[in-house]
Amino acid sequence: MPRSHTYLLWSLLALPAVLILWQALHSTDSKIYGTLAHPAAEFAARLMIVAMMVTPLMLFFKGSEALRWLRKSRRALGVAAFAYAGLHVSFYLTDRGTLARVSEDLSALYVLAGWSALLVMLPLALTSNGYFQRRLGPRWKSLQRWTYPAAALVLLHWAAIRDWEAPAEALLHFGPLIALQAYRVWYWYLRPRPQRRIAEPALVRVTARVPK
Ligand code: HEM
Repeated sequence: MPRSHTYLLWSLLALPAVLILWQALHSTDSKIYGTLAHPAAEFAARLMIVAMMVTPLMLFFKGSEALRWLRKSRRALGVAAFAYAGLHVSFYLTDRGTLARVSEDLSALYVLAGWSALLVMLPLALTSNGYFQRRLGPRWKSLQRWTYPAAALVLLHWAAIRDWEAPAEALLHFGPLIALQAYRVWYWYLRPRPQRRIAEPALVRVTARVPK
């Protein structure tokens, strides 16, 4: 990817964060951190979803240049998703204010799911660079597959907010990803494929060796 495209992509990914931070720093509203935790969270979840949708979408639009570009940018999307999640959690912690309140929240399923998602995302983000990709070799791909449990935890976190108040919104966001991943599994593992025909010479050789 040309360097100018990389800079453009990172600038686009950073722009909402700059606006959110600007609002946080210039607001006089005492609840501003609690309020801004929402857009940061939504960017985190949406970027994660987009990054995960690229590969299965390529099964439908094989020659698409835009998808090929997005595929090359998946790492940036994943890292940005993690950065927005970090912003979301920082705002949440600032809003709650004390360790006692933060620990109190841990009894809620959605908060536990949120922390678990962040813990799973952390090693993925830290090892997403070329250095770790080279060092870990084939294990790098296996590690990156933890994106799926991370996404499932984010879905649970979102759906279970305030006693399962937002399952529709969460499913509306994750629905396309779930459908595409289900299609991908069907395409690679369950799709009926034409039976392979045994080549004639091989058959002749086998029958020639069978004793009469
Ligand atoms: C680290 C632990 C986390 C904590 C303590 C936490 C906490 C919260 C809280 C308090 C809310 C708002 C609930 C409400 O409206 O009453 C929320 C919403 C949300 N969080 Fe988290 N979160 C965490 C991690 C994450 C992560 C890792 C992601 C995504 C990658 C995420 C995505 C979301 C989303 C999408 C929402 C709904 C946004 C909205 O209501 O507009 N959270 N979270």
